[in-house]
Amino acid sequence: MAQIFDRSSNALARMSLILTGLIVIALGLTLDELQRSPWVTRQGQRADQPVPFSHKHHVEGLGLQCQYCHTTVEKSSYAGIPPTKTCMNCHAQIWTDAQLLEPVRHSWATGESIAWMRVHDLPDYVFFNHEIHVNKGIGCSSCHGRVDEMPIMYMQNTLQMEWCLNCHRNPGKNLRPTSEIYNMAWTGASELKPVWCAAEDVGAGSPTAGGVTCTETAPGGEVQMAAVSAPATGVHAQVGTGIGSEETMPVPLPAGLRYTKFTSQAALGNFLVQHYDIRNPRELTSCEVCHR
Ligand code: HEC
Ligand code: HEC
Ligand code: HEC
Ligand code: HEC
Ligand code: HEC
Repeated sequence: MAQIFDRSSNALARMSLILTGLIVIALGLTLDELQRSPWVTRQGQRADQPVPFSHKHHVEGLGLQCQYCHTTVEKSSYAGIPPTKTCMNCHAQIWTDAQLLEPVRHSWATGESIAWMRVHDLPDYVFFNHEIHVNKGIGCSSCHGRVDEMPIMYMQNTLQMEWCLNCHRNPGKNLRPTSEIYNMAWTGASELKPVWCAAEDVGAGSPTAGGVTCTETAPGGEVQMAAVSAPATGVHAQVGTGIGSEETMPVPLPAGLRYTKFTSQAALGNFLVQHYDIRNPRELTSCEVCHR
């Protein structure tokens, strides 16, 4: 380094070149950081909505299902934002003179929709579709977080390309039975919370998510539990026709299925990748999937 400061006549010129280089690199790094910073991606920020709608109150408090308001999430690319009519189903009777609800009443009276600000908004050049994710076993909370605990909606994840790819490279770790899509508290299969699944034989055709039945209660109750944990039968449990009584089985399970017990998310993920017919990572990360 000492030579740079030597009497050589162009030392100053060289110094400034090096400095310029450093500044350019620093600027580049800062912009890159910035592009990924929550300030730019709006990750975690609370939008200033015309009405402070609380998912926590309406979902956790009142027990409303996501589909009650986001009616198209399972059958279209858009989940949809509910019309004022949906709010008025209740607010024509409840909290009728609350100041907070004035924009809702105004909208109802005039027919102008409420001007909700979008919280999640992908650039137009990205293709996204709710239907396929939901019907292939990705739950709302895997992408949107604990919506049931949000007094004001915010974006839990960046929605940047790297975030999408991270799951598309290994979807198994996030797959759950389609019956658990709306379960905000789902944490995956584990020793403590095993999951039992059975795949119906849907014939020679390709498997569908509809052909898979899963339960978090041991199928068939105590007797089957024994069979499940018996070393000789391994992870397979044979379920007969007379499954469970009303008390142990609130939801009747299809009879005559072979249930497999999963005590790790990796194992459940592998099973679901296969039975939900999920494409391989190479196909799922190819550019045309999201940029058409
Ligand atoms: C009573 C109706 C209602 C129910 C039930 C409901 N939502 Fe919403 N949701 C809304 C409204 C209204 C908005 C727009 C205002 C906002 O962003 O808070 C919204 C916004 C959202 C957004 C952000 C949309 C955007 O702008 O990007 C997500 C994500 C969302 N809801 C997910 C869910 C999930 C998951 C559930 C079930 C756990 C659920 N919602 C249940 C009414 C509802
Ligand atoms: C199933 C009935 C029902 C529907 C549908 C419903 N609400 Fe509510 N809402 C309530 C009840 C009950 C309360 C009072 C909750 C409390 O005090 O815990 C409430 C409270 C509110 C509040 C007061 C703040 C809060 O969260 O306590 C706002 C704002 C609100 N609702 C907006 C909306 C909007 C906007 C919609 C439509 C997207 C909507 N609600 C749909 C039943 C409903
Ligand atoms: C694979 C991730 C993923 C899953 C799973 C997912 N969402 Fe979304 N959601 C998104 C993305 C990304 C957007 C933004 C879409 C856009 O900007 O075009 C979004 C937008 C929304 C919106 C705003 C309106 C719209 O349709 O664009 C609502 C409401 C919503 N999601 C609700 C839900 C509900 C309810 C579920 C569960 C049934 C769910 N989402 C499951 C990623 C997901
Ligand atoms: C938590 C996991 C997960 C995340 C996050 C996720 N995806 Fe997916 N995505 C999946 C799975 C699983 C499938 C279904 C693959 C299959 O059926 O082969 C899928 C399929 C798709 C498809 C194919 C749709 C079709 O009709 O062929 C598109 C497009 C897509 N995702 C876009 C996105 C975009 C854009 C994002 C980020 C904003 C995203 N995904 C985030 C898991 C995820
Ligand atoms: C799983 C979905 C998905 C796949 C697969 C995907 N992208 Fe993207 N891409 C996105 C999303 C989402 C964004 C928007 C990022 C944002 O808003 O910051 C994006 C943004 C971009 C951008 C804009 C610049 C940037 O980085 O934000 C370019 C360029 C791009 N993608 C190229 C590609 C190429 C090339 C491939 C194939 C090697 C590819 N993408 C595969 C989802 C995907």
